[in-house]
Amino acid sequence: MEATTFVLFGATGDLAKRKIYPALYNLFLDGKLPQSFTVFGLGRRTLTDETFQANVEQSLRDFSRREASDELLIKRFSSAFRYNVLDIGHVDDYEKLLNRIEQREAELQAAPNRLFYLSVGPEFFETIAERIQQSGLGSADGWKRLVIEKPFGHDLQSARDLNEKLSKSFAEEEVFRIDHYLGKPMVQRLEALQQENPVIQALWSNRYIANVQITASETVGVEERAGYYDQAGAVRDMFQNHMLQMLMVLAVQLPHISTSEKVRFKKKMVMEAVETLQKQDVATSVVRGQYRAGSINGQPVVGYTSEPGIDASSMNDTFIAARLQIDDFFWRGVPFYIRTGKRMKEKTTRIVIEFKEPLQHPSSEHKKGTVPNLLIFEISPNEGITLQINTKDAKNKGQFKPVQIDLFAGQEDAPEAYENLIFDSLHGDPTFFAHWDEVELAWQWVQPVLEAFEENLVPLRPYEAGSYGPAEADALLAADGYHWWFDT
Ligand code: BG6
Repeated sequence: MEATTFVLFGATGDLAKRKIYPALYNLFLDGKLPQSFTVFGLGRRTLTDETFQANVEQSLRDFSRREASDELLIKRFSSAFRYNVLDIGHVDDYEKLLNRIEQREAELQAAPNRLFYLSVGPEFFETIAERIQQSGLGSADGWKRLVIEKPFGHDLQSARDLNEKLSKSFAEEEVFRIDHYLGKPMVQRLEALQQENPVIQALWSNRYIANVQITASETVGVEERAGYYDQAGAVRDMFQNHMLQMLMVLAVQLPHISTSEKVRFKKKMVMEAVETLQKQDVATSVVRGQYRAGSINGQPVVGYTSEPGIDASSMNDTFIAARLQIDDFFWRGVPFYIRTGKRMKEKTTRIVIEFKEPLQHPSSEHKKGTVPNLLIFEISPNEGITLQINTKDAKNKGQFKPVQIDLFAGQEDAPEAYENLIFDSLHGDPTFFAHWDEVELAWQWVQPVLEAFEENLVPLRPYEAGSYGPAEADALLAADGYHWWFDT
């Protein structure tokens, strides 16, 4: 792999500690980092290289998925880390950083390939990108890449503004927008499953599929993120990005051989075909909820508006469910039901494909006990693929019973989302990053929903903490003759 300097803004932050350093360490253990690799950690605090390295080492002990106990290995890993104090607005600081980076590149005789990872609030993206350009950090002979994380904007307009500003310093192919759901091994598998398995491919359309259900439920509440979350809500925090990305990945129809351009082009086609809602119609297809007090795993928890930092009159959504239709040749007529929320009964991300029942006859005596065929993808925290089929019940003549066949039970020791994504960004492979076109189309779909929420055109439905969300989310499916699977 090409020599790389990994320039990390926000090096003393939480994400760096919990995700980025452990991910880099696991890549190191697997021999998946470039031979010539240096990390320049940047932050406001003054730290020596030694203290920074010690902090990085501690984060491995605390958060690495594989035990970090071999001190020699840990030291070898952390010796690639340097620290630089930097004030985000000061171009001089970037120039000093450039000097240090150039020295290090010369020492290692390494090409000036630089990856800038912005693990900081989005309000700093623009300034950082601009300063990288002004200081000359981004204009060496090698390549440069910018890795950023959501939120990409607060609504359609602010997302466009942000993109416009970033594009002055980085070309689209140099921008790697992380959506960590795209790094989850099962999400990455979905595409290949469909592409490489004629059996699945043959079933993948409105001919056989009745509906698709995508759930990402969480048991946690707002945690310590009141300031951010109360402005974002479930719609911006999860729906606009992770949920719509899962929809695109699932619905995409790919040719047998496909490049990252093809994948992105086809995902864009899916998102373009999703029928948009008019603001005044949002309430018929979208349910907006907020948790009330309840209990999670037997522990009582407070309602959203009693959470520290949340105003008692907050109308913020902590739950959203929606019915979407993709108006294209493959999916016309198949509803996609999507829901996500905080303080729900279980932590799970799951996709359920419900198949049609063309043979079902209402008066048929032979069909007692049958249920629809289902294909179930458990995405996280557990991974798995299960098929539900009907078999004869040997003990009850004339009766059928459903059985669930585990097709795949996940892979032990699978890399974490951040490992996959950092690896791909080091390789310059954009397949599992969100292209601007997808982000913009997702905002376009969400924009009338945001407006309808703001203008209270969609009632805010309370739901008890520890439940599966408001009853109206069940009614959304019941209106079409379906129900959410596996709400127990
Ligand atoms: C983040 C959201 O993007 O995803 C959080 O900001 C949410 O609010 C998290 O908790 C969920 O991720 P995961 O991987 O635990 O499902």
